[in-house]
Amino acid sequence: MRLDRLLSEMNIGSRSEIRAMVKAGRIRVNGAPVKDAGMNVSGQESIAADGREVVYQTFEYYLLNKPAGVITATEDKRQKTVLDLLTGPHRKDVAPVGRLDKDTTGLLLLTNDGALAHRLLSPAHHVDKVYAVTADGRLTEDDVRAFAQGLRVDDELTALPAELVIVSVEEAEKESGPVTEEARPAEEAPVISQALVPIQEGKFHQVKRMFAAVGKPVLALKRLSMGPLTLDPDLPEGTYRPLTPEEIQALKN
Ligand code: URA
Repeated sequence: MRLDRLLSEMNIGSRSEIRAMVKAGRIRVNGAPVKDAGMNVSGQESIAADGREVVYQTFEYYLLNKPAGVITATEDKRQKTVLDLLTGPHRKDVAPVGRLDKDTTGLLLLTNDGALAHRLLSPAHHVDKVYAVTADGRLTEDDVRAFAQGLRVDDELTALPAELVIVSVEEAEKESGPVTEEARPAEEAPVISQALVPIQEGKFHQVKRMFAAVGKPVLALKRLSMGPLTLDPDLPEGTYRPLTPEEIQALKN
């Protein structure tokens, strides 16, 4: 393929920027500065842009720990996107697989492997995504049963049966301030529940709508896993890493 195409695919710059870089002697192939941006390369050469090695890869896979406040899109004029968090070299056609809301945190896969992305998102492939949910209110065994039966969320959505696992139900910290026992009787003390829920669907605001339907709105939502892929506990929010060959293989199986 043409050198300028390879470099453009690897997100080094637009074709015209790459031509300018070549002219300025900033692109080297096998150690020597290149004169022709259109020269033929196989991808096996040692290619460097501004002294930084460019490794040509057809497919790239990244696991991002998405922070809150960032939108799941490839570009946006006003808001920071998950692609803005890929600070290292990466192909320009890498895109998020599925979508997390702006305030949702956790595991997001980014890849340019369209066939894999399609398979992971297709309902026919039943890929479980596990979410950790902080909900406003007391989750009960009735909620577990309602989730297990397939929750009628609203006119548009009846969720598939899902296993709701209640992790904890605790009284929320009392806010300091003028709230007195008279103003808020003991039985109405605010309660926060923690739960895990695996779902295979990915309808718009699916998890939030499911918890809203049982009257316990979601306060915080974090995705912990997608199929065989799990979030590393030591990957800080806002950072990412390439998938290991084993993880890629597991996703493809
Ligand atoms: N369900 C939601 O409601 N939001 C997400 O971000 C993901 C699943």
